[in-house]
Amino acid sequence: MKVAVCSAQSYDREFLLAANRDFEHELVFFDSRLSGETRQVVAGFPAVCVFVNDTLDAAVLEALAAQGTRLIALRCAGFNNVDIHAASRLGLRVARVPAYSPYSVAEHGVGLMLSLDRHLHQAYNRVRNGNFALHGLLGFELRGRTVGIVGTGRIGTAVARILHGFGCRLIACDPQQSDECLRLGVEYVPLEKLYADSDIVTLHCPLNPQTHHLIDTEAIRRMKPRVMLINTSRGGVIDTEALIEGLKSSKIGCVGLDVYEQEGDLFFQDLSDQVIQDDVFERLLTFPNVLITGHQGFFTAEALSSIAQTTLQNITAFERDGLCENEVTLELLQGG
Ligand code: NAI
Repeated sequence: MKVAVCSAQSYDREFLLAANRDFEHELVFFDSRLSGETRQVVAGFPAVCVFVNDTLDAAVLEALAAQGTRLIALRCAGFNNVDIHAASRLGLRVARVPAYSPYSVAEHGVGLMLSLDRHLHQAYNRVRNGNFALHGLLGFELRGRTVGIVGTGRIGTAVARILHGFGCRLIACDPQQSDECLRLGVEYVPLEKLYADSDIVTLHCPLNPQTHHLIDTEAIRRMKPRVMLINTSRGGVIDTEALIEGLKSSKIGCVGLDVYEQEGDLFFQDLSDQVIQDDVFERLLTFPNVLITGHQGFFTAEALSSIAQTTLQNITAFERDGLCENEVTLELLQGG
């Protein structure tokens, strides 16, 4: 099938082309993000392959449908950037990669925890500057700490497995309890109790209308003083202004972010020769106890290989008989 691959980075090309030896789709790569301005470049492609920051709102989907596109192939798990109601109305099919080594994201989240806890990001710079003083680098042990996991799906469960090994007390909140988490001794509690009891809160739920700004001023108020907050899910789960207030008042002890609400204008590009225009993001960077990575939780060789394989399988399944087990349907949307 003729596939327009949007937001294509060199690594996307490398892994998709390698996997495509077994599929033989006609892949055409576009550097640009898909949006209202760029939709015309993919005119005439029956399949359009997109990533987390491509915009697929109703207007873009209407244009794609009118231009002859029939399939949106997401090369990610989250589908918050696609208006699924509009796609369904237009007869556009949407497929995603629901699972690709959840350990990639889970390990990255735990990496953020360990770095913040032991101030590794600060220690790295100090030692390079010949400063071997330890003042300000006092950490704490993860063993015995209470970690609250919001969302115990594939990634949240992988986080639970890892932190179980660290000897943490694990509590969680998820409308669907995970058998594996229960076996690990994870205690499911209401969100208020999770906030009240957790030394570390780590977010692994999808972004949807229910979870948009889940972490707001009120949620932060309910958390323990000096709480560590980790977000590797989607930026919109946190109200960034409320987060900054929480950091300024020292209610929040430290923050590890792999995602950011307005990341679409920043992440996945080298902007090192430009003045960053996002003042909220720049304010976040001024805090020494904030560690930000540019949405790289998924970025391992294992995950990229698996993403490429499943994305192309989805396209083949759709092309062969119009059925795809990884289709994003209205039922899936309603199920959260
Ligand atoms: P999943 O679908 O396996 O698990 C999500 C879990 O969240 C489900 O168990 C669901 O019941 C739960 N949930 C839904 N609403 C909730 C709520 N209001 N409160 C608590 N729990 C709720 O998804 P998976 O694979 O674990 O991924 C989680 C999220 O991580 C994705 O939606 C995506 O946004 C993000 N992600 C980030 C990546 C990165 O590179 N940083 C890469 C892959 C995914």
